[in-house]
Amino acid sequence: MKVNLIESSVENSFDLEIIFIKDLESCQDKATLEILDFKAKDESCVLLVEAKKIYVGYEKANYDCIAIAIANAVRKLKETKFSTAKLVLTADLKENFKAIVEGAILGEYKFTKYKSEKEEKNIELNVVVDEITAKLENTLEESKIIAKAVNRTRDMVNTPPADFYPKVMAKKAKKIAQNLKLDIRVEGEDFLKDNGMNAMLSVGRASIHESQLIHLTYKPKDAIKKVVLVGKGLTYDSGGLSLKPADFMVTMKADKSGGCAVLSTVWAIAKLGLPIEVHGIVGAVENMIGGDAYKPDDVLKAKNGKTIEVRNTDAEGRLVLSDCLCYAQDEIKDIDYIFDFATLTGACVVGVGEYTSGIMGNNDELKKEVVTKALASGEYATALDFNRYLKKAIKSEIADVCNIASTRYGGAITAGMFLDNFIYEENKDKWIHFDIAGPAFVEKTWGYNSHGASGAGVRMTIKFLQDLVK
Ligand code: BES
Ligand code: ZN
Ligand code: ZN
Repeated sequence: MKVNLIESSVENSFDLEIIFIKDLESCQDKATLEILDFKAKDESCVLLVEAKKIYVGYEKANYDCIAIAIANAVRKLKETKFSTAKLVLTADLKENFKAIVEGAILGEYKFTKYKSEKEEKNIELNVVVDEITAKLENTLEESKIIAKAVNRTRDMVNTPPADFYPKVMAKKAKKIAQNLKLDIRVEGEDFLKDNGMNAMLSVGRASIHESQLIHLTYKPKDAIKKVVLVGKGLTYDSGGLSLKPADFMVTMKADKSGGCAVLSTVWAIAKLGLPIEVHGIVGAVENMIGGDAYKPDDVLKAKNGKTIEVRNTDAEGRLVLSDCLCYAQDEIKDIDYIFDFATLTGACVVGVGEYTSGIMGNNDELKKEVVTKALASGEYATALDFNRYLKKAIKSEIADVCNIASTRYGGAITAGMFLDNFIYEENKDKWIHFDIAGPAFVEKTWGYNSHGASGAGVRMTIKFLQDLVK
């Protein structure tokens, strides 16, 4: 998919014109559109073949409405034999040019790696403006990088576990490092053993695939901030001995979404050349069953010395993250922000729905800011608050903490509070936990997101970091 900016004075050829409609009254083809029962509403889209026009409705001039509209227009274009479209940038659209670019590229995405017949068509969107300004050009370039980062994440997450196991994930990280000249460190199970990362090590023990600790670093000379991104990279989560029911196991290839988002975000920040030192740390692990599997009743010691009573091997993400968070804080000092991304709990999906991420941490101001940035980036997110009573629910009689709560309620929050045990005192206020279990993978098309992985976490983190150094 190509998106170009073209000045209206320049001659250009196109197959179709895309027209955004908020109010049918002022529309040239009003009569025809009325016959077709077209409403100037979100998600309405119609093709007038003879007139070579695609009409899309939108209700408000905001990111969501505009991105959804352009995605629908691009999809409609893709259904035809045409391949190029023109879009005149009206005032509403100019204000939301980021949404146009991202909505078009994200909306066009489809995961076809495993289809014998692929729709190989190169779509081109020519955005026509009176005058190309530096601001528009910048937005175009930035949004292309952001959308590409999301699509890279989607590709990785959508790839099945037979083709995407911890070493494959490490290879992806190495490739990013090689292409952008970033630092990369990959460690295997010997390292986990030697460094007391027994929680992460235990989760991957029954897998034939060796666990990998991935540390990708972008360190520009002019860095004015230092940020650490930690990702849950469960390339498959069968639940372990606390085996998932068959229906719940399907889609668990997506349990690596946090890790994939972290890798792509580091890629994007490097591509954007932001003056921020960014560390991407991913625990790539497969949670399986077998004679060597870790068990409910085991007590594991994490890298910071805290002991964890395992009562459910399906609450494995927090075990992997506990060691990765410790590793991050042991290795990297004077951190400005430490964020972790994980498809951590089904409870988060139950609580806030499958389109929204849960934002947790100890710093209310920072949580609020992260939610604001998330919404501005086009992602849905909401803050979930810790409290003293839920904290008691993860107490253990025999260890420092238990990996599941004693209550059926508030599972997203108790998981977040479990992670807090592995945040060092100096970083308490700098830490945010993103539970992306809902939006990371949705088995239907929603707005500009196609079936499957959505790349949750990527846009909001990029937006937060962009604004940090603005
Ligand atoms: N990967 C799952 C969480 C999940 C569920 C992600 C649904 C995406 C969609 C996680 O490892 C898990 O199994 N969590 C358990 C925790 C429970 C045992 C306390 C859960 O949410 O049921
Ligand atoms: Zn699990
Ligand atoms: Zn999991």
